[in-house]
Amino acid sequence: MPTLLVTGANRGLGLEFVRQYREAGWDVIATVRESSPELESLGAEVRTLDMSDAAAVSAVRAGRPLDLLIANAGTYGPRDAEDAESAGEWLDTFAVNTIAPYLLAKALLPEVRAAGGKLVVVSTRMGSLEDNSSGGFLAYRSSKTALNMAWKTLALANPDLVCVMLHPGWVQTRMGGQSAPVTPEQSIAGMRKVIDGLAPKDSGAFLDYEGNTVPW
Ligand SMILES: NC(=O)c1ccc[n+]([C@@H]2O[C@H](COP(=O)([O-])OP(=O)(O)OC[C@H]3O[C@@H](n4cnc5c(N)ncnc54)[C@H](OP(=O)(O)O)[C@@H]3O)[C@@H](O)[C@H]2O)c1
Repeated sequence: MPTLLVTGANRGLGLEFVRQYREAGWDVIATVRESSPELESLGAEVRTLDMSDAAAVSAVRAGRPLDLLIANAGTYGPRDAEDAESAGEWLDTFAVNTIAPYLLAKALLPEVRAAGGKLVVVSTRMGSLEDNSSGGFLAYRSSKTALNMAWKTLALANPDLVCVMLHPGWVQTRMGGQSAPVTPEQSIAGMRKVIDGLAPKDSGAFLDYEGNTVPW
């Protein structure tokens, strides 16, 4: 039975990752700040992990070979990051969205390597420089652009593993809002298909949930 570790698993995309991989028979380690009844019903191993705690993130071990890491947890951060007062919140956004996924991947590398596994991070098109035609959401956008650089660097440092950034689409979650065109079921089904099909040549790629390349 393959093993997945996924962060931010109590709701939204993380919860749907757990649901679909459990349905497919996977052993799932689900990390959360606080669990939810929905998650508790899915038969995953639920563990507490606050992604803003760098020491806790670096101490994470699966305890077995890990076929797949999905670093999914993320935060929008402050809507405006225009002054000294919001600088702290902007930094907090980087801690959760950029630094924590990288530290987590580094911590889990030996166990991922033992399984010949894959390292996936949930990024966003909003981190794309080329795609940024409307501006705004500076903290979120910049943290995800930096995340892409970190993950690409991770891919180059670990050529024997597959490290990929995924854009899930604009999805109906608390972050995406109810007017988003894509359901969590569709997004996760799409990302699972993309993940299944990943080959060594894909390492370092930035792909959307339908397998299309997202511009940097
Ligand atoms: N929905 C979209 O349209 C969309 C589009 C592009 C990318 N994304 C990305 O998809 C990922 C999942 O987002 P979502 O749409 O599922 O949003 P969501 O429903 O708001 O869920 C966010 C998840 O991240 C967790 N999280 C936030 N801060 C955390 C921290 N410090 N430590 C641990 N967990 C933390 C949340 O846990 P708590 O309940 O404890 O806050 C929650 O589980 C994010 O990385 C997001 O950037 C989403």
